[in-house]
Amino acid sequence: MATVMDDVVARESRYVLQTYRRNAVTFVRGDGVRLYDAEGREYFDLLSGIGVAALGHAHPGLRRAISEQAETLIHTSNLFFHPLQGELAERLAHLSGLRRTFFCNSGTEAVEACLKFARRYWHTKGAPRAEFIALDESFHGRTFGSLSVTSDEHYRGPFEPLLPTVKFVRTNDAAALAAAASTATAAIIAEPVIGEGGIRPLTVEFASAITAACAKTGALFIADEVQSGIGRTGRPFYFQALGLTPHLVAVGKALGGGVPIGAALVSQQVADTLLFGDHGSTYGGNLLACRAALFVLGEIFDSGVIDNVKRVGPSFERRLRAMAASHPIVKEIRGAGLMWGLQLTRDAAPVVPAALERGVVVNRTAETVVRLLPPLVITMEEADEALGRLDAALGAVEAAA
Ligand SMILES: Cc1ncc(COP(=O)(O)O)c(C=O)c1O
Repeated sequence: MATVMDDVVARESRYVLQTYRRNAVTFVRGDGVRLYDAEGREYFDLLSGIGVAALGHAHPGLRRAISEQAETLIHTSNLFFHPLQGELAERLAHLSGLRRTFFCNSGTEAVEACLKFARRYWHTKGAPRAEFIALDESFHGRTFGSLSVTSDEHYRGPFEPLLPTVKFVRTNDAAALAAAASTATAAIIAEPVIGEGGIRPLTVEFASAITAACAKTGALFIADEVQSGIGRTGRPFYFQALGLTPHLVAVGKALGGGVPIGAALVSQQVADTLLFGDHGSTYGGNLLACRAALFVLGEIFDSGVIDNVKRVGPSFERRLRAMAASHPIVKEIRGAGLMWGLQLTRDAAPVVPAALERGVVVNRTAETVVRLLPPLVITMEEADEALGRLDAALGAVEAAA
């Protein structure tokens, strides 16, 4: 008899463009940090839909906020005012220290907006600058601008030529950055914790080099906090832990808790160079997305979820380090708060199905890294059980090697 999974796979393979290599699981329901597949099996979710479901799944308050908004008004476009954009932008300004927000629908759109605003800044100043500096191991999205500042040849190659005015420097190499930056540089862009590139926090020394390069050349700094932002590292944004003062910040993923929304946060200095009509989005910041985001920010920053990250994060890290000590294939643990990577000595691909078999969802990134982005509401008891299952999965992979 065909299972739900067979039906889903058969239809997808006929009609859905085959750009994703999916894991052989169909999730149909979620509850907090748990997911359930079509056969009713339970999984601990240590990935949160790639850092999106910060409040876990089917959060009662988020469900209520979204359904109330859906019953009232979902979308009117940016041709008209609505009451929630200003409220959400005010919240983001207080959390980030950047004065203004442009709303969009995804991380890559937030990065695109930041790149365009940086170009616009120099254009308005009457001294156009074209160049961007980005980091090796960076990932900023799949659209042309974001892809142009993404280093991985695997993502870039088939779509070249991309923007020709991008220089890449080695992550955390302060001297290389100092040598690359000049008065031709429009902006330096970096993820404060590199995500897809293998969970690599920038060092404080490198952060100082960014600040120094910007001060010396006038270049703007764009912090891509799409993965590391909104409380994941125990602070609203990781640039704050590094002592950075970005001119632009890209936000996405967790902001809507699963409802698509992105945002480019902009300093007043940059905002002053933008004019009506310079950028836009049909959906960007619609009522439904803003309502979801306001609820998410309220839970994280007013109702104690950020304290949970600060409390559970260190125990999570200790548990990971203990686990690493007993597994020869784990070379290094990197991360902050509830954003962690296990650097393996080998391809991490087999860990994913081994973990799924044991009821825990993780992901491989940068070939050799197991990435963990659990919901920010995870308790230590839940984390203990989930990490116990991951421990067993690592053991199984080692045994099979
Ligand atoms: C740091 C970073 N920037 C940008 C993006 C692109 O976001 P989206 O997939 O929502 O376009 C991602 C996605 O993983 C990301 O991790």
